[in-house]
Amino acid sequence: MTETLFIGKNSFKFDELSSTNDWLMEQIFVQKLSEGTTVIAGHQTKGKGQRGSGWSAQDSKSLTFSVLLKPDFLLIAHAFDLSVCVALAIHDCLNELRPGFHVKWPNDIYFEDKKVAGVLIENQVSRSAYQNAVVGIGLNVNQMDFEVLRHAISLKQIVGVDFPVEKVMERLCETLEARYLQLRAGKFQALKKAYLSNLYWFNETHFYKSENELLQGKIIDVLRSGCLQIELIDGEIRDFDIKEIQFVE
Ligand code: BTN
Repeated sequence: MTETLFIGKNSFKFDELSSTNDWLMEQIFVQKLSEGTTVIAGHQTKGKGQRGSGWSAQDSKSLTFSVLLKPDFLLIAHAFDLSVCVALAIHDCLNELRPGFHVKWPNDIYFEDKKVAGVLIENQVSRSAYQNAVVGIGLNVNQMDFEVLRHAISLKQIVGVDFPVEKVMERLCETLEARYLQLRAGKFQALKKAYLSNLYWFNETHFYKSENELLQGKIIDVLRSGCLQIELIDGEIRDFDIKEIQFVE
């Protein structure tokens, strides 16, 4: 049983869906769903990733679920606050297993240099006010091989044991609710501090690529807009949004 006030209290479970995000986004207009409603699928036929990519996951070995939030207290300009909150919640949950997990900007979860979880948040906004946010989480749980995905890793590969997928989801609902309540209470600065202190490559010098230009510098901040702020080795400070920069090495 999930020890939460509202996340996961109303839940749906399907063997197969095209995408848990799509299902939840459609259902918002079909039925009245309370904040915290979750939907989990054993298999997604059209799982979606960030920036128009897909998300493929091995049946029953990975966790693919979505949560409905209603962050009407947030300004649209602060939509990235929710990404911070969700990434940290996943980090909190995984960090209980062992240290070594990081949040890779904007909201991937990495173990060392490999991705273990990804987040896709889709917003429904009306008259410039936040209405609904569908928070989709894909977490590699028990997979042992990723074929073409060289930079993917699962909890089983990290910790060495199988995990019950739905128990992991229950714990994630709890850590998500705790971080979301922190956001709702206006404690964004505390969230931001925790985000930066667990951020992959924070304050370390690395290479990045931006519009075919190879850059060397260190991440010094993540702005409220969600932009990544990098200080280049010549001292110049530049801000990048998600489509403008790639991590190299
Ligand atoms: C990414 O890192 O590219 C984001 C991946 C998000 C995948 C999850 S799986 C559950 C939910 N439903 C989807 O179609 N996508 C998200």
